Order: sequence, then structure tokens, then C-alpha cells
Amino acid sequence: MGNDDNSEPHQNKYEEIINLLKTNQLKNITFITGAGISTSAGIPDFRSPNGLFAQTQKKYNLSSPVQFFQINLFYEHPEYFYDFCKNVEKQINECKPTKAHLFQGFLCKKGIVKRIFTQNVDGLEIKAGCPRELCTFAHGRIDIAGCPECLSDYDIEELRQKIYKGEIAYCEECNKPIKPKVVFYGEYLPSSYHDSFDDITKTDCAFIMGTSLAVFPFYRLPCNIPKDSWRVLINLEKVTGAIFTTNRLDFDNEYKKDCFIQGYTDEVVQKIVDDCEWTKEFNEYCSNFK
Ligand code: OAD
Repeated sequence: MGNDDNSEPHQNKYEEIINLLKTNQLKNITFITGAGISTSAGIPDFRSPNGLFAQTQKKYNLSSPVQFFQINLFYEHPEYFYDFCKNVEKQINECKPTKAHLFQGFLCKKGIVKRIFTQNVDGLEIKAGCPRELCTFAHGRIDIAGCPECLSDYDIEELRQKIYKGEIAYCEECNKPIKPKVVFYGEYLPSSYHDSFDDITKTDCAFIMGTSLAVFPFYRLPCNIPKDSWRVLINLEKVTGAIFTTNRLDFDNEYKKDCFIQGYTDEVVQKIVDDCEWTKEFNEYCSNFK
């Protein structure tokens, strides 16, 4: 774990956050997460050189990296995504939550989490003990299925059977191919995202972890955090999110409560736990999820 900004104001910010956590002064924590928190569980992220964009572009010979996840391609070639699901879904189901997920569950248990906004569809938050009602799966979930056109539900077990048999499931209402309810480019976000959006305006500290903050509208979440609240980015690289909005992340401004901690999410959350002197309690929590 390191930091590309070792300046004193930065270190002071980190110490202030630890002190606030230790003294129980943060009571409405929000998590804003992406694929980077699941890479250590064995699930690739999207935009890394060997990520899902590069893998799918090469395998299906596509013209652009995002094309595989565009709804129009799915309508034309549902067999591509079914083939992908056949390999990936079982793998995801067998994955265990990472320390970054367990840290979220641990803080939920402490009763200081307002909401978890995740772009991930793997559901590892639930496996880490985060209450479902606190989780917003902004880009959908892989464990439920439906029609992308008329939004009617479909039995996920039935879909799994079809996927394994190499058959395509079609909607009885509108005849479009069925898929797990994961959001593709060209689809709306689930209503649960909009219903819970307001919680971001009530947060006193947001941990933004393992995301490139590259996708609209999710990348706007940090901009809606109150100006007097903390925004802590834990990521391999510095990202600032939405370009054409106000109140963007600004780690170089010593007067802003924006703090960047560069590193692997699992290592950084362990350091936070240790610095808060929660190590024993956290280990006990984690031992329930082995
Ligand atoms: P990305 O692949 O765009 O970004 C992952 C970020 O996590 C990058 O900045 C990595 O450097 C960082 N990272 C990877 N492993 C890490 C680790 N162990 N510790 C710390 N940082 C790590 O993934 P997302 O931001 O989640 O949406 O992508 C957002 C959306 O783009 C996805 O939900 C998906 C995709 O298009 C849709 O399909 C609609």
C-alpha cells in the first residue's frame, strides 16, 4: 500500500478519519464500489488490460471493448452472453467475499452504514453479511432473471438450465431473449437505484473502492455527497469521476475532505481496521464467513 501524495495534509486527513471512526463519530457511512473489490476473489474487473472488456472483445471478435455489454448486440446474438454466463456464473457462485466486502459487513454490524451502492452484480456483499436492505445493486444482479424489453420476471433456475443446455430462453410476452437482470449499455438502471439515491445526500463519510468511476449515472454519486462530508477513495489509481459536474473529487485541495489511499482494497481496509484497533473484533467477524 502506498500513496502518490505523501504530503502532510494528506496524512493528516487519513489520521482524522481514523480518529473519527475510532471515536464513533461517523454514523452514516456510504460505500460506493466497483469491480476492483472483487478481483481478489477471482472475478476480473472491466477495464484492466486483462479485464472483461479485453477478454470479450477478443473472444467474440468485436469492434469495441464495450460492445459485448450493449443491449443491441445481446438482441442480435444472445448466444454470446449465454456462452459467457455458462463459464462465469458458476465461478461467481463459488466465490467467497473479499476483505473489502467483509469490512462493509463489519461496519454494517456496527450499525454505522447508511447504504452500499455497488456496480457489481456478484452479490458478495450479501455473502459478507451486509443486510440486503442496505445494498443497492445499481447495475443489477446475476441471481435474478427477466426480459430486458418488457421487464417481466423469469425463473432464474429455468434460465440456468437453458444456458447449460445451450438453448436460448425467450419472453412469452414480447419474444425477446431473456437474461439475468444485469444492466447492459442501453438499459435503464433498476428503480432501487433511484429509490435509494437520496441516501447519498445523508452520508457523513463515503468509502469509494475499486472503481474507475467511468460509467454514467453511477459516477455522479460522489458529487452528491455533502461538501462537509468525507470522501475516501481506495483504489489502485486516482480517479475523479464525472467530468462535467460540480463538486468533483479533488484530492489536491487540502481544504477539501477528499482523501486518496492508493493500494489494494483488501490491504487498505486491513490497515484501517488495525489503525482503529479493531483487529481482533474484525477477525472474529471474518471467521463467521470462511
Ligand atoms: P473498472 O474495471 O472500470 O475499474 C476497476 C478499478 O478498480 C480500476 O481503477 C482498477 O485499477 C481498480 N482495481 C482493480 N483491482 C483492484 C484492487 N484489488 N484494489 C484496488 N483497486 C483495484 O470497473 P468498474 O468501475 O466497476 O457496467 O466498472 C464500472 C462498470 O463498467 C461496470 O459495472 C460495468 C462496466 O461497463 C455495465 O456493464 C453497465
